[in-house]
Amino acid sequence: MTDRSRLSPDQFRSRFPIFERRVYVNSCSQGALSTDVEASLQEYIHSWHESGSPWELWVEEVERLRAAFAASIGAGRDEIAVLPSASAGINAIASALDFAGSRSHVVLGEFEFPTMAHVWLAQQRRGATIRWARAAGDRLDVEAYRAVIDERTLIVPATHVCFRNGHRTDIAALTTAAHAAGAYVLLDDYQRTGSGPLDVRALGVDFMVTGCLKYLLAAAGVAFLYVRRELIDRFEPTVTGWFGRVNPFAFRIDEIDWAATANRFESGTPPVPSAYAALGALHLLDRIGYDVVARQVERLVQRYCSAAGAAGFVVRTPPEPARHGPLVVVDSVDAPTLVSRLAARGIVASARGNGLRVSFHAYNNDADVDAVVVALEAEAALLTRR
Ligand SMILES: Cc1ncc(COP(=O)(O)O)c(C=O)c1O
Repeated sequence: MTDRSRLSPDQFRSRFPIFERRVYVNSCSQGALSTDVEASLQEYIHSWHESGSPWELWVEEVERLRAAFAASIGAGRDEIAVLPSASAGINAIASALDFAGSRSHVVLGEFEFPTMAHVWLAQQRRGATIRWARAAGDRLDVEAYRAVIDERTLIVPATHVCFRNGHRTDIAALTTAAHAAGAYVLLDDYQRTGSGPLDVRALGVDFMVTGCLKYLLAAAGVAFLYVRRELIDRFEPTVTGWFGRVNPFAFRIDEIDWAATANRFESGTPPVPSAYAALGALHLLDRIGYDVVARQVERLVQRYCSAAGAAGFVVRTPPEPARHGPLVVVDSVDAPTLVSRLAARGIVASARGNGLRVSFHAYNNDADVDAVVVALEAEAALLTRR
């Protein structure tokens, strides 16, 4: 029986042993390991030891994961593909699009994760034209997208929260602009999913990719692609495989039948061990609740931004709640060295370019924020000052 009783943030934190040894503020790279996820992985190992090849059980676990994730974002299970990476989801959509018609433009913002740019740049060989929505420093307003979206735009792939500076784009406004021009929107929610409530219908996007190893607190190997129900049967990806079929276990080789659901965007054997981990993590997140997670994260983000600003450091992430997620980036003169110095003080953070990335989840608390700020003050020579 799955325990569904509610957890407070303190009870939630106590399930992550790393906090006995470290100040962990690196969920933007990898969520911390909970005893719940560890137990789920043990369950997988046990099933393998006991039964050898219980594929029926394993496929059922993947289906439970599909249903649990769908419910967590307000989607139907038929709208979710379970994939090994976000890149696989982006490729499945890109490979299904036709760039030969009057719409061949792909509008990309400058805050995308590299994989998003790479997949679409690769489509230039298939007739795609890339148009860039240009950022102004650490800001990328929907206006910059509006300037390049027109009747030639086929799709607007857009990250919600930027992995490099923590900027959050107004996706609902961007979707309204793209749809008004007749273009699709593909959201990359990887740097936000799990850090608060997510209602994919309210955002109005056509497609969304995200994965489990960051704020969804599980292991590498599981990602999701959401495809709005009305769109599913318009697409036949050329990146495909046997799990994209109506019934993979029919083992037919003479015909390609497309699953009527988003399963058609899947390809090979599902990532079973990671699916166990992901389901354990989703159950745990359900027990604290995404609204509680969001409140805790926002409180910690504000505490950190105020303290870092008061210390004279340059906070690159926008301060307005609607313009950031759980990641805050502070400018450093040598961010990789700063990350090593913090590690020596027991703090796990990360760097991208000259930015120090500190990110929060519901397992973090005020003491974590204060420990990071004290350490930054001690290493002030490595920080850019206003
Ligand atoms: C915003 C964003 N999108 C995509 C990815 C890559 O996802 P995957 O490796 O699952 O393709 C990352 C990984 O850090 C990311 O931060």
